[in-house]
Amino acid sequence: MRIAVVGSGSVGTGLAKAWSGFGHSIVIGSRSPESERVVELVSSLGNGVSAAGLAESVADADVIVLAVPWGAAEVSLGALGDLSDRVIVDATNPFVGGLNLGIGHDDSGGEQVARWANGAHVVKALNIVDARLLDGKKLDNREISIPICGDDKEAKSVVVGLIGELGFDVIDAGKLEISRLLEPLCLLMIKMSMKKSLGAEIGFRVLRD
Ligand SMILES: NC(=O)c1ccc[n+]([C@@H]2O[C@H](COP(=O)([O-])OP(=O)(O)OC[C@H]3O[C@@H](n4cnc5c(N)ncnc54)[C@H](OP(=O)(O)O)[C@@H]3O)[C@@H](O)[C@H]2O)c1
Repeated sequence: MRIAVVGSGSVGTGLAKAWSGFGHSIVIGSRSPESERVVELVSSLGNGVSAAGLAESVADADVIVLAVPWGAAEVSLGALGDLSDRVIVDATNPFVGGLNLGIGHDDSGGEQVARWANGAHVVKALNIVDARLLDGKKLDNREISIPICGDDKEAKSVVVGLIGELGFDVIDAGKLEISRLLEPLCLLMIKMSMKKSLGAEIGFRVLRD
C-alpha cells in the first residue's frame, strides 16, 4: 500500500520505519523534503522510503497519516490539496500551551480534522501510543491495544489492517466522536509516563476473554 506520512518527526519516522518493513511504499510529507535533516532521515530509513513536499506526498497515497503538532494541523491539511474521499489517519492530539487539551467534551481534534479535511474519511488512531513503541513492541508479553474510531467503515477496515500488521491489538471503538474520549486518554498516558516516572514503555491494553 502507498502511505503518505505527513510530518517527519517522532511519529512520522516511527511509522515510516515500521510500515516500510512490511513492504509498504512510504512517502514522508515534509515542509522541507530537501533539507539535510530530512534527506539524512530518509537515507537512514532505507527500504525505499522517500520524502516529498506536502501536496506531492499525498498525490498517489492510498492512506494519509497526519503526524504534525496540533498547531500545524489546519495549515498542513490545507497544503495537501483536495482531500475528498481520501482516507486520513489522524494521529494528532489537540494540545495547546503544553499538555492541555484545547478541545474536548462536546468536540474533539478528530472531528475538527474532519471539518478541515472536508470530504475525507478521517480515522482517529495511534494517538495514545508512544512513538517509540510504533514497531508494535509487546509489553508484558501482550500486544498494546490501539482503539480507533471513524465514521466510514471501509476506511476503518483499511486502518485496522495496517495497524494490526504492526503487531497491535486494534479495536474499532466506534464513530469519530469517540475521539472525544481517545484524546484525553492520551493525556493520561503521557502524565503517567512523565509525571509518575513510568517511562516511555507503557501501553494501554483492553483485557477480554
Ligand atoms: N511523540 C509521540 O509519542 C506521539 C504519540 C502519539 C501521538 N502524537 C501526536 O502526533 C503528532 C506528531 O507528534 P510528533 O511527536 O511526531 O511531533 P514532532 O516530533 O514534533 O514532529 C512533527 C513534525 O510535523 C512537521 N510540522 C509541520 N508543521 C510544523 C510546525 N509548525 N512546527 C513543528 N513541526 C511541524 C515537522 O515535519 P517537517 O519539518 O518535515 O514538515 C515535524 O517534524 C502530534 O500531534 C502529537 O500530539 C505524538
